[in-house]
Amino acid sequence: MKHTSNELPASAPLLEVRDLYKTFGAAGRSKHGPIVAVGGVSFTLHAGECMAIVGESGSGKSTLARTLLRLVEADSGSVLYKGVDLLTLSRSEMRRQRRNLQMIFQDPYASLHPRQTVARLISEPWEIHPEVLDRAARPARIAELLAQVNLPQHFADLHPNQLSGGQRQRVAIARALALQPEILILDEPVSALDVSVQAQVIKVLMTLQERLGLSYIFISHDLALVRLVADHVAVMNRGMFVETGRTEEVFNNPQHEYTRSLLASSPALFELSSQAAQAVPGEQQPQFQEH
Ligand SMILES: Nc1ncnc2c1ncn2[C@@H]1O[C@H](COP(=O)(O)OP(=O)(O)O)[C@@H](O)[C@H]1O
Ligand SMILES: [Mg+2]
Repeated sequence: MKHTSNELPASAPLLEVRDLYKTFGAAGRSKHGPIVAVGGVSFTLHAGECMAIVGESGSGKSTLARTLLRLVEADSGSVLYKGVDLLTLSRSEMRRQRRNLQMIFQDPYASLHPRQTVARLISEPWEIHPEVLDRAARPARIAELLAQVNLPQHFADLHPNQLSGGQRQRVAIARALALQPEILILDEPVSALDVSVQAQVIKVLMTLQERLGLSYIFISHDLALVRLVADHVAVMNRGMFVETGRTEEVFNNPQHEYTRSLLASSPALFELSSQAAQAVPGEQQPQFQEH
């Protein structure tokens, strides 16, 4: 299934971020002075790519993700999506573009209303973007989305509190896909889950990426996971990308001292990545027994 509206030359980036800045706490207002959360970040993301952003807590990863979608307004810079600078759009123009770029958060519970059924939660984006899908076609599409995230059909009638953390995160993914986005920004999408469940959610994400040709910005502090899923890695420290490159190159031959210390502080790296690789092989039967 391909759902590009405006066609791009194959080599043009889908997303091009230039010189993005975000400072919190205007000068004089904060005891600790202003915090430069994002201090001049530039990168490009091509269609079908998975780019990881790694770095310690507080390095600015979430703020960067949020400024891309204007959940937080950047101070300066540009975020070109297919050549259109999202940062200059009006509210209504931004709302229209938002369907192309969806975000998945660490804690799906916060974004899933407890009183609503899974079917209703997945349908919610169509209330804001009714043009995406005729009302009559929605039940079948909900069934398809549940299948795509490996959840059984009867889950449509359940509420979030009847689901495990991994199942909730898969509902959040199904809901993000309802608008047929091209880019998913995943901010620590499995960090809150048990390791065994992480592998299942990651498998769903990797399969979806391949089948739907999605592009991912995958934020994680789990280097083993990043090595498994990402084509490119950006290492973020104090609001800046200190090193970027193809995943294997960055892992095998880190250039920056900060990258080396990050790798060194992750002793379980090789062990973990081989475990996760075993949990993610090709065509397995869906498993629903996680808790
Ligand atoms: N809304 C906010 N107000 C003030 N400071 C913030 C806000 N959000 C983030 N920060 C600060 O910006 C820095 C980067 O935070 P964050 O983007 O959450 O990093 P990460 O996701 O890498 O852990 C931190 O110093 C954090 O305290
Ligand atoms: Mg964060």
